[in-house]
Amino acid sequence: MSVVPRLMTLADLSGPQINRLVNHAHHLKHLSLPWLAPQQATKKKNNLRMPSQSLFNKSIALLFSKRSTRTRMAAETAAVLLGGRALFLVIGGMCEGIFARVGAHEEIEELARYSPVPVLNALSSFWHPTQVLADLLTLHEHAHLFSPDTPAPSPTKPLPPLRPLTIAYVGDSANVLHDMLVTYPRLGHKVRVATPPQPQYNPPEPVWDRVVELGCDKHIVWSNDPREAVKGADVVVTDTWISMGQEAEKAQRLTDFAGYQITESLCREGGANPDWKFLHCLPRKQDEVDDEVFYSSRSLVFPEADNRKWTIMAAFDLLFGKWDITGEKTLK
Ligand code: CP
Ligand code: NVA
Repeated sequence: MSVVPRLMTLADLSGPQINRLVNHAHHLKHLSLPWLAPQQATKKKNNLRMPSQSLFNKSIALLFSKRSTRTRMAAETAAVLLGGRALFLVIGGMCEGIFARVGAHEEIEELARYSPVPVLNALSSFWHPTQVLADLLTLHEHAHLFSPDTPAPSPTKPLPPLRPLTIAYVGDSANVLHDMLVTYPRLGHKVRVATPPQPQYNPPEPVWDRVVELGCDKHIVWSNDPREAVKGADVVVTDTWISMGQEAEKAQRLTDFAGYQITESLCREGGANPDWKFLHCLPRKQDEVDDEVFYSSRSLVFPEADNRKWTIMAAFDLLFGKWDITGEKTLK
């Protein structure tokens, strides 16, 4: 009996499998861009290679119980490029894949348990795997800016490996951070985190269990001091302090996160790499990062948002189109 593949978190994949997905996104991006704008390409359109058409004649259901701009647009446009279509409705018997954004993580686990087609997590209370794939592609594309020995990536070649980075996260222990915790250490990077001291801002037990199970905890330094977290950081990341569904806690959270805003002075005083870069999944509020950083040349947030499309396209191709998210078929 063939098992229906699924992707709930990047913890479900090995480091090489994650690297393969990011490289596949890089490949699809550079294959698709000249295809979309043939007048700018050096070759004539007839000579251009098309991206994979693995979703030809296939429909992908988008099940979003929370709002979304980037993830939904990335999904809809990526499905078109793969020859398929995405629709905002879910009937497992009438589509070939489900991309679902849910509240409690258990909801997507239950959906995947009964689904006859592959399920990809578009964000749950615990995880946000497609966000961290986009962050990784963005770091690869910009690594030469903060690692002078790293060459800029070539559009036609696999991505050069990233040098070991120190990646700092200052803010709430939420879905984006959780996928960072199970991913970056396995790719050779150190993670430094600062969250407020109250216990509700620590990761939930099932998340931390996965972190420990994968041996990632040994490469994570956790404190309640944002200055301590950004020490030596090449990359500084944050997320909203009030995730979707936590609106009633807004006043308490704004009090508890006082002093956690990402600013130039925080990173200077904390001893970040002078060339540090900034990532944020968006949407962003000024509380967690000031305008000086958000709109500066340090900020990679706009290419990061664009890269949601190419990484979601890679995940759709391999999970929904080819049923080979783990590479077991093609890596033999
Ligand atoms: N980063 C992200 O998931 O954005 P949306 O909520 O707009 O999809
Ligand atoms: N932690 C945020 C991420 C939004 C992309 C949320 O869950 O609302």
